[in-house]
Amino acid sequence: MKKIEFFKSVFSKNDFPKENLSQLILCGRSNVGKSSFINSVFKTKIAKTSSTPGKTRSLNFYKVENKFFIVDLPGFGFAKVSQKEREEWNKLILSLLSNYTSIKVAFHIIDSRHEPQESDIELNRFVHAQEIPYFVILNKIDKLNQKDKSESVRRIVEYFPELIINENLFLFSAINGFGSKEIKQLITK
Ligand code: GTP
Ligand code: MG
Repeated sequence: MKKIEFFKSVFSKNDFPKENLSQLILCGRSNVGKSSFINSVFKTKIAKTSSTPGKTRSLNFYKVENKFFIVDLPGFGFAKVSQKEREEWNKLILSLLSNYTSIKVAFHIIDSRHEPQESDIELNRFVHAQEIPYFVILNKIDKLNQKDKSESVRRIVEYFPELIINENLFLFSAINGFGSKEIKQLITK
């Protein structure tokens, strides 16, 4: 699992790819590291990242080994884009999630330093309601010491009791590659 290429940016419902390929979607709040996740796992710089939240502003489809899509979504919970723009994204993301049967799996990326927010809880509920296989990636684990790591895991499981470490919950760092091996195995599977 090495070859990844940019396929297209989608700004409206009519633009969704016609290809009947499975999709792995990357979702989560702004700035949690969704785009960095792609770059780290595939050792590339293909996805644009920024320390300023709100970088990704379209649904970006990447094709992996001509077999499936990884879709990098705009982050939610970012106050600085206009209300209108935010609503447009939300609509687009919801239509992707609800009407698109090719979604095989959702990776929900969460900053391991922070408590899940209302939008995380909503996303978790929504994905379960759609019966989309679901994994949580606790990112930026490089920022935590051992004690804070345990605390972060304890907290996330308190919010989402279905999570089991290394089954559907993974610790990750896009900066130092921690957890990459497990994530790659998961994606391959
Ligand atoms: P939006 O596109 O705005 O929704 O953000 P995003 O979720 O795609 O985040 P992005 O990948 O652009 O990363 C946001 C910031 O977090 C950047 O400054 C990254 O360098 C940083 N970052 C991402 N992953 C990690 C990580 O694992 N550890 C650390 N320390 N920083 C990270
Ligand atoms: Mg992004």
